Amino acid sequence: MNPKLDLLHPYPFERLKALMAGIVPPAHLSPIALSIGEPKHQSPAFVKQALVDSIDQIAVYPTTKGGPALRHAIAQWCTMRFKLPEGSVDAEHNVLPVTGTREALFAFTQAMVNSESKVPLQGSQAPLQAPLQSPLIVSPNPFYQIYEGAALLAGAELHFLDCTLDNQFIPDLSTVPAEVWERCQLLQICTPGNPTGAVMSIEQLQQAIKLADQYDFIIASDECYSEVYLDEQSPPPGILEACAAMGRTDYSRCVAFHSLSKRSNLPGLRSGFVAGDASLLGDFLRYRTYHGCAMSMTTQAASTAAWNDETHVIDNRRQYREKFAAVTEILSDVLRFPEPQASFYLWPETPIDDTEFAAGLFAQQNVTLLPGRYLSRDTEQGNPGKGRVRMALVAETDVCIEAALRIKHYVQGLAV
Ligand SMILES: Cc1ncc(COP(=O)(O)O)c(C=O)c1O
Repeated sequence: MNPKLDLLHPYPFERLKALMAGIVPPAHLSPIALSIGEPKHQSPAFVKQALVDSIDQIAVYPTTKGGPALRHAIAQWCTMRFKLPEGSVDAEHNVLPVTGTREALFAFTQAMVNSESKVPLQGSQAPLQAPLQSPLIVSPNPFYQIYEGAALLAGAELHFLDCTLDNQFIPDLSTVPAEVWERCQLLQICTPGNPTGAVMSIEQLQQAIKLADQYDFIIASDECYSEVYLDEQSPPPGILEACAAMGRTDYSRCVAFHSLSKRSNLPGLRSGFVAGDASLLGDFLRYRTYHGCAMSMTTQAASTAAWNDETHVIDNRRQYREKFAAVTEILSDVLRFPEPQASFYLWPETPIDDTEFAAGLFAQQNVTLLPGRYLSRDTEQGNPGKGRVRMALVAETDVCIEAALRIKHYVQGLAV
């Protein structure tokens, strides 16, 4: 067996199941899950119709690269959404469909990391005999657990950047020592962030790009929440936009990951794309040909329809905006949380230990949410998830309001 499999941590939901084992929630209260980030709004009817209409294409093998209709729709969407110079995202070379960003984030790391490339320990008097160090992936902390598993299986170590109230939940790249950047092969970013909802500015993204040039690493920008934002006038910027704003229209060293799961409420479709540096995507395509994750032609037809339409996405945001307004109004009296900008999470501080908070809430109110520490790791500064919980506001508004009222009641009970 691959010994690196033993390095993998239990998934947050396994840990949650263990935490809840043996607790019997009150039977008179219906269960409400705020634990899983699975969108629950309606999938668009026209996308379902496109699946039905293209069903006969199930009879053919799809290509890994994807057909021209989908690649054009993606290239056009990227250009429009991130205000990129016309023609700079070439459907032939700068985009690749993926079967959800989860597999793509994982596979990209496997394809890009050179585990043979070891760097001598810095500061050694005898560099030739100095112990060699594995490649590094720099990741936010807390983080989407695929980043970590992908790094470990690719033979890389992780260097975590704590995202806390002090840095407005944005990884502070200026604190990273040069010897870390020297070993870094991949910088993983997530904007808007899961679980914090924090959005990186163009300037912060450009700081990452300048560091990537200086130290020769790749940036994987997970932007799967980019279309779930609260202020219709302020769409979160993306890494390609940051590139274009500095005249870097070859998008070198940069790859953005996008998904229809959250944007279009299609988590079961398994559809997303990667876009950016043509040379990196060429290598990734080569890897994917063997990886074997080509998107079926029916999924391609449905995805093309989804990327070509913004009306349903605007309506999706309206639903989240109404839900966030109602829930934050109820909870802001009893909990402190960063003002949500994007994504569908709240990331409040807990008045007691986060695991105790989650277990007690389940025991008293039959509401589940994720303890923050299940989404983060200990670092020298502590654990940035400790003392927080993640609430996924994915259910319909009335259910989320009911959950918020129960949480408020629970927190008020703790204070007595
Ligand atoms: C930060 C982040 N990235 C990627 C994904 C994967 O999404 P999908 O594979 O559905 O595109 C998720 C899913 O919850 C996520 O939270």
